[in-house]
Formats: sequence, structure tokens, C-alpha cells
Amino acid sequence: MKKILFMLGISASVLAQSKPTYYEHIQPIIAKNCAVCHCPGGVGPFHLLTYEDVAKRSKFVAKVTQIKYMPPFPADKSFQHYANERGLKEEEIELIQQWVAQGSVEGKMARVSSSQLAVGSKDARLSLTDKKPDLVLKMQNAFTVPNTGVEEFRYFHVPTGLKEDVMVDAIAFLPGNRKVVHHSRVMVDTTGRMAGLEGMQGTDPKLAEFQRIPMADEFLYGWVPGNDKIQFPQGVAKKMSANSNLIMYLHYSPSATTQTDQSEIHLYFAKKPVEREVKSLILHEQHITNPPFLIKANEKPTFYISTKPLTEDISAISILPHMHFLGKTFKAFAITPDGDLVPFIKIDNWDFNWQMTYQFETLLRVPKGSVILAEASYDNTEENPLNPFKPARDVTFGWNTTSEMMEMVIYYVSYQPGDEKVKQ
Ligand code: HEC
Repeated sequence: MKKILFMLGISASVLAQSKPTYYEHIQPIIAKNCAVCHCPGGVGPFHLLTYEDVAKRSKFVAKVTQIKYMPPFPADKSFQHYANERGLKEEEIELIQQWVAQGSVEGKMARVSSSQLAVGSKDARLSLTDKKPDLVLKMQNAFTVPNTGVEEFRYFHVPTGLKEDVMVDAIAFLPGNRKVVHHSRVMVDTTGRMAGLEGMQGTDPKLAEFQRIPMADEFLYGWVPGNDKIQFPQGVAKKMSANSNLIMYLHYSPSATTQTDQSEIHLYFAKKPVEREVKSLILHEQHITNPPFLIKANEKPTFYISTKPLTEDISAISILPHMHFLGKTFKAFAITPDGDLVPFIKIDNWDFNWQMTYQFETLLRVPKGSVILAEASYDNTEENPLNPFKPARDVTFGWNTTSEMMEMVIYYVSYQPGDEKVKQ
């Protein structure tokens, strides 16, 4: 039989898969790639844990996987690879399509139940919490998310109480209430002048006063669901100075019921000697080469950023691009003195909801003399469904969600031979 199949050019595995079943073929894909968000307390709008959960909306599951809308991962993986990338393999997508086309067959129940599998993947996501954090920083007060069905953007001020400088080699963000915490960004202040931000709304005009105070770190960590931690490679850590205070900026989803949240940041201090300190290269509106950063009503402008040539060889660890609702595309790369391109990130369909810290698969060498370039396009027409203003208005820089930003934070260390092989 095998021989005949071989002669016909059909492999036995394809035949075996001709009628895929849920327990044998589909459940492992869903448990690994979907259950982390589509589970109790997860951000997904429904559960994907049992055969019934998946079969009930099988056409929908086929569609969102085929168009690569789920699992969410905005960056183009043909441009660069990341340690925290998400996505299904082409074979997996094809298998789901076949399973649905052939009637979503249940098949024989596997020995491990689907809920056990889902719980397993949930635990894996928080594996960093197996280690005891050295410093747990909780929001000072629980925040009540009202039942008004309107999203909330809030700033919180979290004192650290640090009496001396510390070297941090891993950072985790733990949302207090996964039902409503949509995404967050954590910044560091050392001026002691930010306490007045506590509880402030993202649309508050008073924000402009705080925005003028220079931050010690405009970006310590950015969190979206499924992106719970950053762990630096061995011997690499980020310095946090005594008298640092954290500023957490949280985006809460609309909720029909009253919810409370008290999110936490966990810091892990380096236990081994730190050879290299993580530095941040922050490029923003002031580096734009075609100013002013003014996005006129009914226009779709593109802005460019370009750095001076780097004065040393560096190894890039991660990149976080940032824009608000008018953002459409974002691309960043370096050009070396030899004219080679070092790809950082390409997002063709910017999604405000999935702002990730993209950690490169291996440390990314950028040689001395390279120039870092970025380009971002915006859509300030009424065709942009996310445009906060109808009719469209002129928009410029500001922290408010209704203003705009063009920012990019690159974590890096000075280069050491062999970095290209350091997996993150
Ligand atoms: C990182 C979290 C996350 C992961 C992983 C994830 N989802 Fe989702 N999913 C969401 C969120 C949040 C929504 C609702 C918002 C939206 O539609 O973007 C959603 C919506 C959906 C929808 C409804 C889409 C719509 O248009 O209303 C389907 C179907 C879905 N997910 C299936 C899946 C499948 C199948 C997988 C795995 C292959 C998966 N999701 C992985 C978070 C996730």
C-alpha cells in the first residue's frame, strides 16, 4: 500500500490527515496558540477551550486564522524574527481549513482534557513568576473601571521606595484584572514631580504640564496580553536608580459591569555579575526630518526619522514602535556604512491595540557608523474608522490618546563578538 501511495506521489501523512479530527489535529493548535487569551480571565471575547467552544464558531475560526488576524501579531515576520513572535504555520492554517470544510469532526477524546491543556499554557505564560520577584510594585490604589461601556485611559504613580541603584534583569507586568486591562506602558521618573498624575485621565488637558518634565526612562516596559515579561540575556541588565518612581499608563477596555484593577510590576534583580548595561535609544517627534509633526485634517502624511551615525557597534535587544489611533504603517531599519540593511520592524497595518515590545530572536548587531531610519504614515481622514474626531481635525504631538505620537524605543547594549548567536 505504502509503495503504491508513494508511486502516486501521495504521502501517507496527507491521507491520514484527509479527515482531520478535533482531538487529534486541532486541539493542540488551539491550546498552544489561542487558549492563552481565549480562557477565563483572558482578553479574548469568548473561550476556546472545549470542542463545543471551537466547533460552535468553526467558520469564524477558519476565517480569522486564514487571514492571519488571529493570533494577533502585527509585525511582518518576513522582515525580521522575534523571540516573542506569534503565529500559525502554513500547515496548521491549512489543517484548520480542512477540518472546518469537512464538517468539524470531533474524533476521539484525548487523554488530557482541553481545560487542562489551556491551564497549562496559562501557567507557561507566567513562568517567570515561578521565580520570586525581588521587588513587587503595585498600584497604590485599586482603580474602579465604571460600567459605562466606555474605554478608559489612566495614569498611575507608583513609588518604588528604592534606596539604592539596582540592576534589573527581568521585568514582568501582571494585570490585576485581565478582563479589563487592555494594555499598559511603564515609565520611570526620578524628579519626584509626577505624583499629581495619580489617576489622571488620558484626555486631561493638565497632562501637558507633566509631559514637559523630562523622564528618566520614557519606557521601562510595554505590556499587551500574551507579552507578560522581558528577560535580558545573561550578563545584561537595566539600571534603575534610587529615588525612581514608576508611572503606569493603563488602557482599560469598555466594560458593561463595574470592575476593579490593581496591576503590578515585578522586578527581578541580576544575581550574576552584570557585564553590560541596557541602554535605551529613544527616537521621537523631535528627530523627525520633515517637520512639523502636524497631521492636517483629511490628509495622510508620512514622517521620517533619521539618526546621526552610531559612534560604536551596538547589539539591539528589542524595539517598541508607538503611535496612536491615526497611525497606519511603521517601518524601522538601519543602514550600515557598507550600505547593508539591518531590518528592525515593518508593520503594514498598525493596530493601536497590539503595541508590543518586539524582542529580536537573537541580539542584532548594528555596526558603528550605521544610521537608523524610521518612517510612519498616518490617516487623518474620516475613512479611518479609529479617527477620534468626526469631522477630522488637525492633530499634533501630545500624550493624550486623541493627539498623536511617533516614537520608537530600542533597548541595546554595546556589541560583543558572538552576540549574533545569543538567542533571546
Ligand atoms: C494575545 C491574545 C489572543 C490570542 C493569542 C488569540 N486571540 Fe482571538 N481574540 C483576542 C481578542 C482581544 C479578540 C477581540 C478583539 C478583536 O477582534 O481583535 C479576539 C477575537 C477573536 C475572534 C473574533 C474576531 C472578530 O472579528 O470578532 C476569533 C474568531 C478569534 N479571536 C479566534 C482566535 C483563534 C482561533 C486564535 C488562535 C489561533 C486566537 N483567537 C488567538 C485575543 C487573542
